[in-house]
Amino acid sequence: GSIWDEYSNQVIRRMDDPTHQGEITEEQAKQMGGKLIVADFGAESCGDAVRLYWCVNPETDVILDSKFKSFGCGTAIASSDAMAELCVGKKVQDAVKITNIDVEKALRDHPDVPAVPPQKMHCSVMAYDVIKKAAGTYLNVDMESFEEEQIIC
Ligand code: FES
Ligand code: FES
Repeated sequence: GSIWDEYSNQVIRRMDDPTHQGEITEEQAKQMGGKLIVADFGAESCGDAVRLYWCVNPETDVILDSKFKSFGCGTAIASSDAMAELCVGKKVQDAVKITNIDVEKALRDHPDVPAVPPQKMHCSVMAYDVIKKAAGTYLNVDMESFEEEQIIC
């Protein structure tokens, strides 16, 4: 088969047409009645980067909306898109528990078939790290203070 067969349809679809790519402005956050959080994370080894926008309800800590921008490859874009979608409706304290394994599982077409080839798993780790960065910004703590969940890269 071709290398394309190693990617799920969801990865291919989200890479071409991500549903959560973009930004949230201060104005939009205000209209939603939430607080805007912007977090950047860069992979030092390769210069790839992701920026995450959250609009958070300050009373309930629930993420009302979530968007991203990415300098990563197609897998990083698809992973960030799935990650941003998983964040919506969760409390910040719960969103921080989402790992890159959860993201990869969400991208599968079939529960037993990996969504990306193994050598691309590292591209989803940024999506995991930037959540911790955003949560740290919102909760006013260092991102390192969150427990490392199990990840694969
Ligand atoms: Fe750099 Fe995927 S994010 S190769
Ligand atoms: Fe940079 Fe994959 S090459 S995260």
